[in-house]
Amino acid sequence: MGEFNITGGHKLHGELKILGAKNSILPILAGTILNKGESIISNVPRLSDTFIALEILEHLDCTYTFEKDILIINSSNVSNNVIPIDLVQKMRSSIIFLGSLISLFGYCKICYPGGCKLGKRPIDLHLDNLKKLGVTILEVDDILICTANKIIGADLNLTFPSVGATENLILASVFCLGETNIINPAKEPEIIDLVHFLNSMGCNIQGVGTNCITIKGVSSLYNCEHKVVSDRIVAGTYLVAAAITDGSILLDNVNISYLQSTLDVLNQLGYYIRSYEKDNKVFITTQNKKLSLPLLETKPYPGFPTDMQSQFMALLCVSNGVSTIKETLFESRNMNVSELNKLGANIIIGENQTSIITGVNNLVGNTVYAKDLRGGASLIIAGLVASGVTTVKNSEHIERGYEDITRDLTILNGNITYSN
Ligand code: UD1
Repeated sequence: MGEFNITGGHKLHGELKILGAKNSILPILAGTILNKGESIISNVPRLSDTFIALEILEHLDCTYTFEKDILIINSSNVSNNVIPIDLVQKMRSSIIFLGSLISLFGYCKICYPGGCKLGKRPIDLHLDNLKKLGVTILEVDDILICTANKIIGADLNLTFPSVGATENLILASVFCLGETNIINPAKEPEIIDLVHFLNSMGCNIQGVGTNCITIKGVSSLYNCEHKVVSDRIVAGTYLVAAAITDGSILLDNVNISYLQSTLDVLNQLGYYIRSYEKDNKVFITTQNKKLSLPLLETKPYPGFPTDMQSQFMALLCVSNGVSTIKETLFESRNMNVSELNKLGANIIIGENQTSIITGVNNLVGNTVYAKDLRGGASLIIAGLVASGVTTVKNSEHIERGYEDITRDLTILNGNITYSN
């Protein structure tokens, strides 16, 4: 359990390359078992979650090499071993292996998942719809025993466009009899990326990014190559970090259209954004006085992402006036509020996951605790403008989603160190 020490008061400037997305690489890694062969994947972020997924693959008798950002997975000897409980508990997205394993073997034994402690995180949409594909699910002491003679294509209607459920149902359906239609699927860029990866190994999946994804079952798959889409949440985090310091930074290797809702909010707050769509670059600088936001509400993509609300909360702590953020997806997103208040912020949690943030002139360094991934990032962002030193403990939460936030912010002129 390490900690970050940030000395506030340094404006961010400079240029930084953004790496591949955490929320893409994890389902893609689950998908690598399907071709029983080689997948060459580039732009892979070295996150603690990536290494947990690789450990799971090793338990399934896959092998890999990982040099620089290139990961080569060989799944020719994949077996249907039980994934150890501690690995599944460490990372919620390990539940995505259920879809791949049931697809390939018609059998999967896995426990309920862990991950960020964002409150109740049910998987009913995954399980109910897997049943519609012909999967029998037995639940014994938090262990799910899933069996299917054959996955039978079906029309699945998601009552909520869950990212994880959409991914699991796609993975479960790649070899299905006939076709599966997922109606009201999630449209997140990372799902589009997963589908590009799966189609590059021979799957037949159409309609991703629309209101219906169609998966036509195929009989075999082949080796493939894929480049992971850039991480829009990491890019957004650094844009907000630059904004809070009144700095100016240029980010490279970003997909502008996937960042749009974040850029729109920064614009509303009076920051100047210049997007270079063809070059995959985005520039931010401060232009007008920082304004407040009457209401920022998290929504499924293309709406404003729940994974960006904590970082904006830090920024709004030092903006002019009163702002409101309404979290509509996860019930425990506000675990960073008490910590931001320890730095001198004025945040009150109202009803229905609504936070009311009254801007203050200064934040003051203190010792604070990261309790989840993005909330942890918000504390580092606040530390960049707090006077004196801010110590952010429990670094392991932040390392789940940022390859090396100390390296990145140092490149951008931030004053941050890491110690064990
Ligand atoms: C994924 C992302 C996470 C992001 C979230 C929303 C990964 C590894 N994680 O998480 O970073 O914050 O999308 O964009 O990609 N729900 C149910 N039943 C289910 C499934 C979900 O009620 O079976 C509810 C959840 O409780 C939550 C909402 O749906 O309120 C969104 O969850 P979901 O889209 O599934 O998020 P994750 O896939 O867990």
